[in-house]
Amino acid sequence: MVLLLSSIAALWAAGAIASPLQARADPKTYEAEDAVLSGTVVEKTVAGFTGTGYVGGFDTGTDRITFTISSDAAQLYDLSIRVAAVYGEKRTTVILNGGSSSEVYFAASQTWNSVSGGQLLLNKGSNKVEIVNNWGWYLIDSITLTPSGSRPAANINTALVNPAADADAKALYAYLRSIYGKKILSGQQELSYANWIGQQTGKIPAVVSVDLIEYSPSRVAYGSVGKSVEEAIEHHKRGGIISFLWHWNAPTGLYDTEENRWWSGFYTRATDFDIAATLSAGPSNANYTLMLRDIDAIAVQLKRLQAAGVPILWRPLHEAEGGWFWWGAKGAEPAKKLWNLLYDRLTNHHKLNNLIWVWNSIAPEWYPGDSTVDILSADIYQQGNGPMSVQYNQLVELGRDKKMIAAAEVGAAPLPGLLQAYQTNWLWFAVWGDTFINNQEWNSIETLKNIYTSDYVLTLDEIQGWRG
Ligand SMILES: *[C@@H]1O[C@H](CO)[C@@H](O)[C@H](O)[C@H]1NC(C)=O
Repeated sequence: MVLLLSSIAALWAAGAIASPLQARADPKTYEAEDAVLSGTVVEKTVAGFTGTGYVGGFDTGTDRITFTISSDAAQLYDLSIRVAAVYGEKRTTVILNGGSSSEVYFAASQTWNSVSGGQLLLNKGSNKVEIVNNWGWYLIDSITLTPSGSRPAANINTALVNPAADADAKALYAYLRSIYGKKILSGQQELSYANWIGQQTGKIPAVVSVDLIEYSPSRVAYGSVGKSVEEAIEHHKRGGIISFLWHWNAPTGLYDTEENRWWSGFYTRATDFDIAATLSAGPSNANYTLMLRDIDAIAVQLKRLQAAGVPILWRPLHEAEGGWFWWGAKGAEPAKKLWNLLYDRLTNHHKLNNLIWVWNSIAPEWYPGDSTVDILSADIYQQGNGPMSVQYNQLVELGRDKKMIAAAEVGAAPLPGLLQAYQTNWLWFAVWGDTFINNQEWNSIETLKNIYTSDYVLTLDEIQGWRG
């Protein structure tokens, strides 16, 4: 979780990554200058445009281009936007039929480029596609819609990255592979909220995600007492699947000021602990020793779970690429180095063989590599219970479709009909706890009932016996 929703928005950027869906023929192009303009103007100065001009003048929040697009059938399309971001990198917002919106990133460019705008599920008949200001100051030449082809079959790795993975981890991984692309596992952050969902919908989530935060030594020093290991074992005993993350309170260097108290010590803003300097200084450095002390403290808890036969979807160093947590604050290189150190320490030194390693950033430059990652994931805080197809497609690219993909934290649980229409085969989703699951604006009770009773969504009662 992060509290800066505006920063998370940066992760929503569609990027210039092509859709992995194999597009069929008959793309259709719509010239921007022929659409309905509101606050925007037709221009002709930058050469190379198609049609009779392009549209600029995105300088206030409501400025937009509105395309009317008719579709013969309810159908998924790949959207491509021909753009020139001549004033530097920009973002636009694409809104479909006045409802679902997505953000699309434009890299700086002096020439015209076609950029993927993700996918749009058009209704049969007339549809409205709007390109709305957002960062503004970019030029739009046209948009092209191509009916999406069906997603090629994934080619998921058969083995876990740890060759010594234990029978529990292997059984869980085999089960996950068996359902991937066919169903989605429901999931929830915090056991108490999982049980609350049970009361609301009659169905308990299959996956419960909990946090090792309170076992961080710099919190224990202030009197924190963790209980998530017991909660995990409780859910495990009733046949559930467990995921762990770790809001790692920095080993040292907590400000503990009025604005940034000690319990915020996983945030970059709350500590001057420098992961780049610590890793460069190496094992003789006092802070390096403290970093290992923390990993070893966490290993004690993970070993309790291993002893209890609990395999773990293990998602440390989450949201590294956001930079708002200290492990991502110094850029990609130290974060990757720390991931590999953590993998080595827990796997080879502590002999933890019940862990399935879940990476949680999208950007390729942050990826630690295939040899220490089992599953890819993203944290997405977007209202509307949508399929999050932009991020899913980016993760397919990142793992070359060899790694399963999870929506490890979401603000809004995805609607199964949209997941199937967009072919976004998330392995599981887990809604964050307070202010998201219990918030009508993010997840209405009606929506939760719809999701939790869907055939496409696996709940605790439906995964019994997953060990085979
Ligand atoms: C360890 O980290 C603290 C807090 O960031 C810093 O003030 C200190 O100089 C570091 N010590 C060493 C030996 O690097």
